[in-house]
Amino acid sequence: MKKLIAANWKMNKSISEAISFIEEFKRLVSNEKNVDIVVCSPFTSLQAVANKLKGSGNIKLGAQNMHFEDSGAYTGEISPLMLKDIGCEYVILGHSERREFFDEDDFLINKKVIAALNHSLKPILCIGENLEQRKSGKTNDVLENQLEKCLKGIDKNQILEMCIAYEPIWAISRGDPNHKPATKEDAEEGHKFIRNFLASTFDEKTAKNVRIIYGGSMKPENAKELLQMPNIDGGLVGNASLNAKSFAEIIKSI
Ligand code: PGA
Repeated sequence: MKKLIAANWKMNKSISEAISFIEEFKRLVSNEKNVDIVVCSPFTSLQAVANKLKGSGNIKLGAQNMHFEDSGAYTGEISPLMLKDIGCEYVILGHSERREFFDEDDFLINKKVIAALNHSLKPILCIGENLEQRKSGKTNDVLENQLEKCLKGIDKNQILEMCIAYEPIWAISRGDPNHKPATKEDAEEGHKFIRNFLASTFDEKTAKNVRIIYGGSMKPENAKELLQMPNIDGGLVGNASLNAKSFAEIIKSI
């Protein structure tokens, strides 16, 4: 399966910073055809990034969130139609920072997943346990519960359009470049659990064809070993995706 590496810029970069990044990054990865690359910029720079990406077949545009309705009285929100209109192909949904700081729950995230799929946007659905849950041995229960609720009503054809991001919350850098990622073994264990869940919910073949990507302090130094694990099909990269060179290095480490 082709790997997928997505940049999650979070709330970073002005329009001019986004443009300079893409100009440099395009040159760095122009020969990387064997990987799907996605840049998820803030809403304010999506248009500028879309313009710069025109003609660069291997880099796709993504957003970091959306509302589930098409339009209406939802002050401050952005709809799936608007994301399609601007050229997005992907959208990150259910990121732990949205769950923690904006009270998003699995019920809401499920509505967003369904809305994205209805508009042919590919959801990158984020799940993952926090440190306390991990320490008390609840990781698998947390993952199972999130998957069950967030994927409610999703059929086999739809899950194939999705990507699941396993992001153990305790491994996410929150901007600290020295933050420790999960070990490759811990990450693989989570991915394997998710794969098995997909196999029992859908079937083996379908489960094999859904990309499960890892997020949490992925950087040039550890990308290779993580990406070599059998059930890790790519990465969702925060801090290390803010610099074109380090993001490109991660991609080249595949
Ligand atoms: P990080 O962020 O790479 O900075 O840990 C990943 C994410 O939160 O998606």
